[in-house]
Amino acid sequence: MKIVRTIQALREERGKMEGSVGFVPTMGALHAGHLSLIRRAREENDHVVVSVFVNPTQFLPGEDLEKYPRREEADRLICEKAGVDLLFMPDASAIYHEDEVTLKAPAYLGYILEGHRRPGHFDGVVQVVMKLFGLVQPDFAYFGKKDAQQLRILQKMAEDFFLPVTIVPMETVREEDGLALSSRNVYLSPEERRRALSISKALKRASKMVMAGERSAEAIEAEMREVMRGIDVEYVAIVDRDFRPQERVELKKSIILVAARVGATRLIDNIWL
Ligand code: PAJ
Repeated sequence: MKIVRTIQALREERGKMEGSVGFVPTMGALHAGHLSLIRRAREENDHVVVSVFVNPTQFLPGEDLEKYPRREEADRLICEKAGVDLLFMPDASAIYHEDEVTLKAPAYLGYILEGHRRPGHFDGVVQVVMKLFGLVQPDFAYFGKKDAQQLRILQKMAEDFFLPVTIVPMETVREEDGLALSSRNVYLSPEERRRALSISKALKRASKMVMAGERSAEAIEAEMREVMRGIDVEYVAIVDRDFRPQERVELKKSIILVAARVGATRLIDNIWL
């Protein structure tokens, strides 16, 4: 595995690749969720590129940019073991220019739910992913359904800009007890972690209700809020694949999303029905 930090070195290594390139963009502190994306990329491509870059433009003032976990050495080992060919770990100064052209997330999709709670967040995500796509020129890029809104926006970006890349959605990887893996889980104390479990429990309860025939979004949301009464719920949303709110859930069409604060940590999770 080659590790590169500069644009020039990345371009050089990319230039040597023949056949398909699978790309997994990350912010590091890699866990089994990231690893599932890397493994899939490995199965499906001749070459696998992973980026580790804590992108400053997607963090709002007051968010956790400075304390976001950085684990370069561990990330390197995980990538090496998973058969990654090229690991790109740039500095922000290599990625961003002065007075540059900027992309904006879609007016609806980028500014509801996560976008509403974190205004500008998805602008930063599309900006950096467009740059990374330009550099890596992947045939396939792998993203987790855990960040459902991010995934949908990046699919739109690829469509809207006619990018020659296929976005591959990947299932959410969870701990045995249901907690969705996240780099931010390290912030949770044992007691907070226990309380955070109510998020995946609420989603599981919702899924059971739907399986039993319940279709009312209101009834499902009320039950979910009951399960999560011990934590500070920011939103529960039941939407279709384009994130339009639904009054009645539909199999194979609905996504149920939760954002909540547990102590100082903000967590998101969802299920795709
Ligand atoms: P990061 O949070 O590091 O996540 C990188 C990728 O891993 C994303 O596609 C995310 O959805 C996926 N992922 C995270 N947790 C997962 C889990 N439990 N199961 C499956 N996949 C999971 O998302 C970002 O970084 C950044 O916004 C990025 C796209 C890299 C742009 O900076």
